[in-house]
Amino acid sequence: MNTKNFRLETGKATQFVAADAVKAFEPRVKAAQKALEEATCAGNDFLGWMHLASSTSPELLSSIKACAQTLRENCDTIVVAGIGGSYLGARAVIEALSNSFEWLTNKGENPVILFAGNNIGEDYLYELTEYLKGRRFGVINISKSGTTTETALAFRLLRKQCEEQRGLDMARKVIVAVTDAKKGAARTTADKEGYTSFIIPDNVGGRFSVLTPVGLLPIACAGFDIDALVKGAADMEQRCAPEVPFADNPAEQYAAVRNALYAAGKKIEIMVNFQPKLHFMNEWWKQLYGESEGKDGKGIFTASVDFTTDLHSMGQWIQEGERTIFETVISVENAKHELLFPHDDENLDGLNFLEGRRVDQVNKMAELGTQLAHVDGGVPNMRLVIERLDEYNLGQLIYFFERACGISGLLLEVNPFNQPGVEAYKKNMFALLGKPGYEKETEAIKARLA
Ligand code: PA5
Repeated sequence: MNTKNFRLETGKATQFVAADAVKAFEPRVKAAQKALEEATCAGNDFLGWMHLASSTSPELLSSIKACAQTLRENCDTIVVAGIGGSYLGARAVIEALSNSFEWLTNKGENPVILFAGNNIGEDYLYELTEYLKGRRFGVINISKSGTTTETALAFRLLRKQCEEQRGLDMARKVIVAVTDAKKGAARTTADKEGYTSFIIPDNVGGRFSVLTPVGLLPIACAGFDIDALVKGAADMEQRCAPEVPFADNPAEQYAAVRNALYAAGKKIEIMVNFQPKLHFMNEWWKQLYGESEGKDGKGIFTASVDFTTDLHSMGQWIQEGERTIFETVISVENAKHELLFPHDDENLDGLNFLEGRRVDQVNKMAELGTQLAHVDGGVPNMRLVIERLDEYNLGQLIYFFERACGISGLLLEVNPFNQPGVEAYKKNMFALLGKPGYEKETEAIKARLA
């Protein structure tokens, strides 16, 4: 186990609450852990994520890698169709690990991975279909329910284009489904067309599914090491286990500190990164916590920023706005490449004093300076340090956040594993669109708008 380089620093957050406020959560945290382990908590039919990493079979990993290899050999572009938990985890890992510019040339050894099915933007979909013209593209259709409108729409378009462009036989080879074992349109189509398919376990909810084929297949297609990702998660599973003492258990500490801050009136948590590659990790985290905790009139609102970029926009609000926020910073200890601050003869910007220093060193001082300024401004600050952006460390980070989310949701006394509120917009949308079976709702909504 190499989890020692993963650490959570809480001192600059706990200084904002009473001395024993975090420790006071220990009995409830341990009770939440017990309820998760013994499956006695609310949402106990969705706990499959808890020991997923440590129980993933080599056979499943091999079959995912074999499928990824087929797609990589036959495609220069792979479109991942999915929304929410059915795409954010894959995108978070792929963007964290990828060269930021390779996809622009499409000349690298890896296929370009694109995402669709996560919006209903007509221009986005039109432009995607235009981009794909003439390209050797494949599709991974990911939907647990198999009936999500956004994903189904994108898949209809992509499947038709793939069949027309690449021929029926090749389309059947390069279209893959990740869905329920038995139900839903995605399963029916996959079985009928003979697509390769993978199952999303019944007991794993969308936002906890990145370590199932939902995340692992796109990540493997992008050329990354899914064994190391799963290993990192499995090691973190041990480090966050209930028998690890409260003071040494990062998931328990994070859950307790954020709940202590929430009780002290800090209603908004801002996830911060100092690496643009982590933008989608923030997005994944926002969904994980937002959808798990925001219910029954409760829940910490999850927001995110990319620093230093957003220091030039949201920095003002964070420094001096309403004091209802706290920050959690994901800090990456080591950059992958070395780049030195260059010399300039004229020195018009006055920055020659930085000449020869690593760019990452400047970034780290921006990080430290920001932390101190925000703490001075009344913003509690936690810091989550990971060694580097690689598969193993991201696997650790993912499991850490998942485990802490389960604990934190139970501390808030909500069911962290359902999302009843997501249905409200769908009901209205279908009523407005006149979906068969929604006649009464259509009538009611029309009367309301008249
Ligand atoms: O976390 C969740 O359950 C949701 O975000 C779902 O993943 C999302 O709504 C997509 O659902 P589906 O996979 O059924 O298409």
